[in-house]
Amino acid sequence: MTFTIEPIVPTPAQSGVDFGAMINDLDLEKLTDDDFDKLQEAVYTYQVVVIRNQAHVRPETQYAVTKRFEPEVDTYGHGAQHRAKESVIARDLSPLPAVPQVQLLGHGTVRNYEGIEERKLTHPSHRVFHKDLLSEEDEAQGKTRFYRWHMDAALYKLNPPKVTSLFCIKNPEERRQTVQYDDGTGHTLDVQLGTTAFISGQKAFEILPPDLKDLAFRTQVKYAPHPYLWMSKARARSTGLGMESEGLELKPEELPEIDEKAIKIYPMLWKNPVTNKIHLQVHPAAVQDLIIDGKPMGDLTKVRELLYKIQRPAINPENVFAHEWRDGDFVIFHNRGVLHSVVGSLKDTDVRIFHQCNMASAQDPIPVTAEDFAPYAIKPSA
Ligand SMILES: [Fe+2]
Repeated sequence: MTFTIEPIVPTPAQSGVDFGAMINDLDLEKLTDDDFDKLQEAVYTYQVVVIRNQAHVRPETQYAVTKRFEPEVDTYGHGAQHRAKESVIARDLSPLPAVPQVQLLGHGTVRNYEGIEERKLTHPSHRVFHKDLLSEEDEAQGKTRFYRWHMDAALYKLNPPKVTSLFCIKNPEERRQTVQYDDGTGHTLDVQLGTTAFISGQKAFEILPPDLKDLAFRTQVKYAPHPYLWMSKARARSTGLGMESEGLELKPEELPEIDEKAIKIYPMLWKNPVTNKIHLQVHPAAVQDLIIDGKPMGDLTKVRELLYKIQRPAINPENVFAHEWRDGDFVIFHNRGVLHSVVGSLKDTDVRIFHQCNMASAQDPIPVTAEDFAPYAIKPSA
């Protein structure tokens, strides 16, 4: 059986969204080799692919489908690192006992679920991560925030997963909420309660002025060792795009032993393996330094200011694809090509059940060569 890929038609409010596709006529339980090849190409071409009506799909199948993108590896994207109690990841995810590469996440209490007797899930809230908070009245009126813009990646020892699958078992009750950027721009975004927001790293690159494209090409990104512990006391900007600089990061002596070889340094620009297009791909919260033309900046405050200048336009409301989940939606996204964020302020009575799966990759991201960058290179003036 073949299937149909329908590119997402953005609303006028999403004029910058040039990625995303829907598939309505595929059954992941009956995926053939040809289907998989077509699906894989679609994921790298459209970055975010929504396969509808998959409520019957088993965790084993989610794992098997996700693993086909990374056949050599069995390690979950964060390995076991995220289970350290203080890690900012640990509180959001718990492995399914029968298929531990598949993580349960969401909100509310689940009982007798996939081998889990009882587990209270908590939808990540900006309240535990942002520096300044919405008031309770604001949240009661339906105002909310982007929680944390990120790619799924340990960023220490392990390479970022190529793709992540995110499977909606159960959505909360349908309510609209309004994302507040609260950064002086007045930007807001109308979203479904519990949406997942995506932005394209390719768009993030394309919309940069030539001088910042050039700078991005010359820059490497150095991630902190044990990044999710390192940042565990620091607090994020109101847009969820990186951290405020208050000196709250853990010192090396407060972290587990640091293996210098495990520290990750990646180019700022990564090449898409199918389209060959350039993606700006940085997990801003975990960055410790930027290395420009081989020289580390060495000043975390300045690093974050520069990074924010480079990344902030990409999350303008018109560039955000906030997927409106339906129960049974199985999303596969190109984790090395987009950033995403949890969104929404859920009530105690809301229930949201999702499964997530990804694999730490055996390969580094693909760097952008001088030849790839040539169309964007600044010509020396005569
Ligand atoms: Fe994520």
